[in-house]
Parts: sequence; C-alpha cells; structure tokens
Amino acid sequence: MNRRKHEKADLKERLRVTLEVRTDSHGMFSPRLLGKRLVTPPANQLPITMKRVPSGKELKARLLYLTRKAEFAASHYYHNPDLSPEENRRIFGKCNNPNGHGHNYVLEVTVKGEIDPRSGFVVDLKKLKETMHREVLDAMDHRFLNKEVPEFLSRIPTTENLAVAIWQRLAPKMTNARLHRVRVYENHDLFVDFYGEENDCVT
Ligand code: NI
Repeated sequence: MNRRKHEKADLKERLRVTLEVRTDSHGMFSPRLLGKRLVTPPANQLPITMKRVPSGKELKARLLYLTRKAEFAASHYYHNPDLSPEENRRIFGKCNNPNGHGHNYVLEVTVKGEIDPRSGFVVDLKKLKETMHREVLDAMDHRFLNKEVPEFLSRIPTTENLAVAIWQRLAPKMTNARLHRVRVYENHDLFVDFYGEENDCVT
C-alpha cells in the first residue's frame, strides 16, 4: 500500500472509531460523535469505552414517540346521583352547579412506532389528525359533556374520565402506530395522563 493510500485508510479507521454507541433506557442505540476533531488515537490505543458502530438492522429497531396536540372547549358539571345533594355539594363544591361551567381543554395524543423506511414517518400525520377530529373533537368540542357525550351520561366528566374516554375512542382506530399516552389538560396547572389499561401497556 502506498503512503497516500495508507493515510486515507488510517483516517477512515479513525473516523469510524470516533462514533460512540450509547443505549438509552428503551434499549435504543444512539450514536454520537465524541469530538469535532478528526484526529483521534490510533485504533489500538483507544480506551475500552469505544464501542462498535451499530449495524443498519439495529438502527431500524428504534421506537419513537410522536405527539399531536389539539384544543377543544366543553362544559360540564360534577354530580354523582348515588350521593345526597349535601354530599355532592361537599365533594364537588362549585363544580356541582347543574348549569355547568366551561374549560378550554388541551389534548395531547402520543403514538409510538418505528420509522417507516419509505416515508421516514412513524405515523401518517394527516390520518392521525383526522382520527383525532373524527373520534374526539367532533364529538366533544363545544358540547355539554354530561348531556351530549354518551360516555358521560353515566360517568362523571372529570379530566380523569375524559382521558380514559378519549383513549377508548382512539385506541381501536390506530393503524400502523400504537397509542402510547393520552394527556388532557383541564387548564395550565392541571393535566391527566392515561397510558391505557394494563393489558394495553405491553411495550
Ligand atoms: Ni370543571
């Protein structure tokens, strides 16, 4: 091998070993450059923390989480027909007023999946948006939850129950990506997360 060729091969080798592979809590590989300088010690003098570069197959196994947000306004009141009027007032306070009050809810829907090598996407964003609108916003936006949304004819429309109802509406409609989390903000200071029933949380 002539000198020039040798130098080129040496530089190639140094570049290769400047990649360190880290594994995060999900077991995903995350290569990162150790430094901006190309010149590193020769391969035989590298510290043992240097690891091999992951193969293409390993990189494909990455699981990603994608979140889409939407807002809707709805009104509700809290009332449990099994309790006395006094108990309802004591537990729910002002929220027990049957004339209701409104909230500007913020919904965050997180899906998880692998990157489709053809599109580079985890999920078809247009489809996800359409599903959220069809299943949730069309049914709940500008509605009196207690009277107009079937789930809340028999369930108190708390933010907790809202998160569960939204999960139950969305989960069966997911196609290539799986539903991971439904987060519902009742206001800036309060939100509820639901990750599905135990059986849904396989991964
Ligand atoms: Ni309220």
